[in-house]
Order: sequence, then C-alpha cells, then structure tokens
Amino acid sequence: IIYESSQEASFFVANEIADLIRQRQKQGKQVVLGLATGSTPTKVYDFLVKFHNEEGLSFKNVITFNLDEYFPMEPDSIHSYVRFMNEHLFDHIDIKKENVHIPDGTLDKEDVRDYCHEYEDKIRTAGGIDIQVLGIGRTGHIGFNEPGSSLKSKTRMVRLDRVTRLDAASDFFGLENVPAKALTMGVGTIMAAKRIILMAWGEGKAEIIKQAVEGKIKESVPATFLQHHDNCDFIIDHAAASSL
Ligand code: GLP
Repeated sequence: IIYESSQEASFFVANEIADLIRQRQKQGKQVVLGLATGSTPTKVYDFLVKFHNEEGLSFKNVITFNLDEYFPMEPDSIHSYVRFMNEHLFDHIDIKKENVHIPDGTLDKEDVRDYCHEYEDKIRTAGGIDIQVLGIGRTGHIGFNEPGSSLKSKTRMVRLDRVTRLDAASDFFGLENVPAKALTMGVGTIMAAKRIILMAWGEGKAEIIKQAVEGKIKESVPATFLQHHDNCDFIIDHAAASSL
C-alpha cells in the first residue's frame, strides 16, 4: 500500500492499531502488539499518544513485546531500545508496566538461552501477537534477523551485520561503539503473528523494498520470508516504492 507521505501512512497504521484496541476493550479482551524501534515507527507512536491524550484511547488492555535490543545494553543508555520505547510511547500512555516486554540487554551470557525461551513462552501465553509492526534494515533484516536467519528461527542472540552496524554508527558516535550483538525475536516468532505491518519511508529503502516484495524468497534477504505470510502488508511512501 503506497501513501503520499509517511505521515498519512502512519496515521493509517495507528488507526488500525487503535481500532483493534477499542474493539477488544468492548469485548473485555486484551490485545498483544509486537513493536519495533528505529526511526520508521515513531510517527505511529506519536499518533497513538495523540489518540490517548485527545480521545482517551486507553492501553490498559494492551500487552506489548518488542522485537529486539542491542547486547550488551543498559536500559538507561541513550542507545537502549527500552529508553527509546519509554520516550516515544510508554511514558505517555496508561499501559501497565507489567504488560511491557523488551529483550533484556543486561543478562549474563549463560542466561540468554533460557531467557529467550521464556520470551517465546510469554508471547504464547499472552495468546500470540495480534499485530506485529516492523521496519526494515538495508540488509533486509526484520527485527535483528540478519541475512542467514532461517524461517523457523526463534528469539535468540545474533551477531549484527556490518551494514547494520555502519547504519547505526552515527547514532553511536562511531562504528567501534556499536554493539556486535543483539537479542531478537526470530523470523519464526514474527511469522506467527496474526497480522504483520512492515513500514518503510524514503529512497534509501527503495532497493531493499524491491527485493523484499519482488525478489525470490531466500535467507540472504530475511524480509522476503514475509511473502509467505497471508496477512502481511507493506505500507510505504512513494520514495520507498520508487524501485518497484
Ligand atoms: C534497527 C532495528 C530494526 C529497524 C531498523 C531500521 O536495525 N533493529 O527493527 O527496522 O533498524 O531502522 P530505521 O527505521 O531507523 O530505518
């Protein structure tokens, strides 16, 4: 779905999320959201905060699971995805703290395996992800599932691709400061979501969007796996659609 601007597209996405939250509220049920970081989803979060402030949209029935976190990473670091999510969304809405889940970048290495299994269990126990929001990296990664990630992969520790680390270098004031690893939900975890919305804005994403949408399904471009999902939309602006 191609929109004139990222603003319009984000409004559309925020409305879809808000509609589901309201519908479930009427039924006395919970909603499970899979959330992403990066610059791409920030306008969606701005709209959700706006709906909360201006229309009283409540998040008391919302459970969230974030896709990923750098490793190691302290939650109060300016680079942490915990801090990102608090600043862009959670600090401004009435979500219950115990309903927010973000992979923990402070774990001891030997605890990572069990922790990742538990993360998967928590998603399952919550009833599975209703809507998964995604961005896309220039390597074709979704979450931090870099090239080589398998369709069945689950939450785990991964090594970041050099291109991904280069893209993050300016935020970290130098490539040497970008963590080499991350924790991420797997491709399989993402594919289990009932609905997936991948967003991309700008010319810089045009080439990878072309590969993800029109290319052969392959591990070297993990976003191509989304072609297998029967309820996945790519919501993009004109610039990101320019190579299609
Ligand atoms: C990071 C995140 C991804 C995100 C990607 C793109 O690698 N882990 O989830 O999709 O960046 O970032 P941006 O939205 O800033 O282009």
